[in-house]
Amino acid sequence: MSKAPLLGVGTALLAVGLVSYANVGQEGHEAEAGHGEHAPASDESPHAHAPHAISLDVPEDTWLLAPGEEWFEQQAELHPGRFTHDDSLFDGEGGWVDSQGVYELRYDEDEDYYSYWQHVSAAQLTRGRRDFVQFCSSCHGFQGDGYGRSGQYLRPAPRSFKQSNFKFTKTTADLPSDAALMRLIQRGLQGTPMYPWDLSEEQLTDIIQYIKSLSPEESGWRDQFAEIGGIVESSPDPWSGRRDEAITKGEEIYHGKANCYLCHPGYVTVERMREIRGDADNVQYRDMLSYPALKESDYDVLGKRQMIMPPDFTWHQVRSGTTVQDLFETIASGIKGTAMPQWKNALKDEEIWALAYYVKSLIEGYKNEPGNRAAFMAGLRGE
Ligand code: HEC
Ligand code: HEC
Repeated sequence: MSKAPLLGVGTALLAVGLVSYANVGQEGHEAEAGHGEHAPASDESPHAHAPHAISLDVPEDTWLLAPGEEWFEQQAELHPGRFTHDDSLFDGEGGWVDSQGVYELRYDEDEDYYSYWQHVSAAQLTRGRRDFVQFCSSCHGFQGDGYGRSGQYLRPAPRSFKQSNFKFTKTTADLPSDAALMRLIQRGLQGTPMYPWDLSEEQLTDIIQYIKSLSPEESGWRDQFAEIGGIVESSPDPWSGRRDEAITKGEEIYHGKANCYLCHPGYVTVERMREIRGDADNVQYRDMLSYPALKESDYDVLGKRQMIMPPDFTWHQVRSGTTVQDLFETIASGIKGTAMPQWKNALKDEEIWALAYYVKSLIEGYKNEPGNRAAFMAGLRGE
């Protein structure tokens, strides 16, 4: 991927945002009113809020929750020399140090609880904010609240970083690690306006620290009890070389034990469902079985709960990668703040791998094959 076109997209979008700001007058209001009943009253809408000047500087250093002791030990092993432990820090309590700063072990007496905190300098946050405003704010908003000028009518809506809730970072912990966020921003989310970003790792690191610093009091990276985790680990693929067997097994788990069909479409006939599930001939399943069922999420936009359509794999775009391994990671970790559950530990890894093969086969067989898909769906729907 070359750098120029990707930056071009961001800059172009920012330009769109700025042009609209310049237009927030009578004309701008009329244009918005044309978008139908969901168009908020412009003066009230945070999307339309046009500051005359925005500050690019973050004046103060901050402290953000860091992963636990285990992570430091693991990192020290993975990257010899990155971390050193300095016993003299913090009144003799000691702390970890790396090139980015210091990490402090804090003890909360009331809760009898230890947590590590990372020092982030105002200079780093300022660098992060500058890049964030340049590349990300057109959608995610100048304040990172998701109300960017160009984000107004995007659905799914750009994430508010004040919610500290991430859908696709593929971790089973409360919060994603920096590495998980980095990978997500670099890969983007297919089928959404969240593009892959080819910024340097230094820039992304600064942006990520800035995003984390938007956590409100006692939440996200300011919640001492939150757990920070890496990308969910994938065991070795147990079906390697046995693709067809994996797909058959995946189909059974999907429509049987794991009940994926309750939200995503069922991709077998009712007769085959009964056979897979060992149900009697008169058992019925949900209406519109071969269509997805719209689900509520935890995400609010302008005070309105966002409903999310679980993808039909033969039709919608899967956001966070379509290799068998990507799908394993997605299914294992679930999608936070949405109806999509976490399957790690609820199913055996071997079963999750089988599901990944099965979902992949649906994408490959039908997603870009309209003829095949039409025939397949007609068969299911008895048309
Ligand atoms: C053109 C609009 C747009 C721009 C510019 C943009 N994003 Fe996004 N971003 C989105 C949308 C839309 C989503 C939500 C996608 C979804 O929920 O499926 C999103 C989601 C995200 C998420 C959340 C992913 C998750 O797991 O929940 C992160 C993190 C993110 N963006 C970071 C960035 C960063 C950093 C930049 C700048 C380098 C940026 N975005 C620029 C539109 C944009
Ligand atoms: C209770 C409802 C529900 C169940 C059960 C469910 N899902 Fe989902 N799933 C969702 C929703 C909602 C989304 C869309 C989330 C989004 O894009 O914001 C989703 C998204 C996905 C995605 C796409 C992720 C991406 O990167 O875009 C995959 C793959 C997936 N589910 C697989 C499965 C499998 C396999 C099962 C069964 C083991 C399953 N789901 C069970 C609701 C569900």
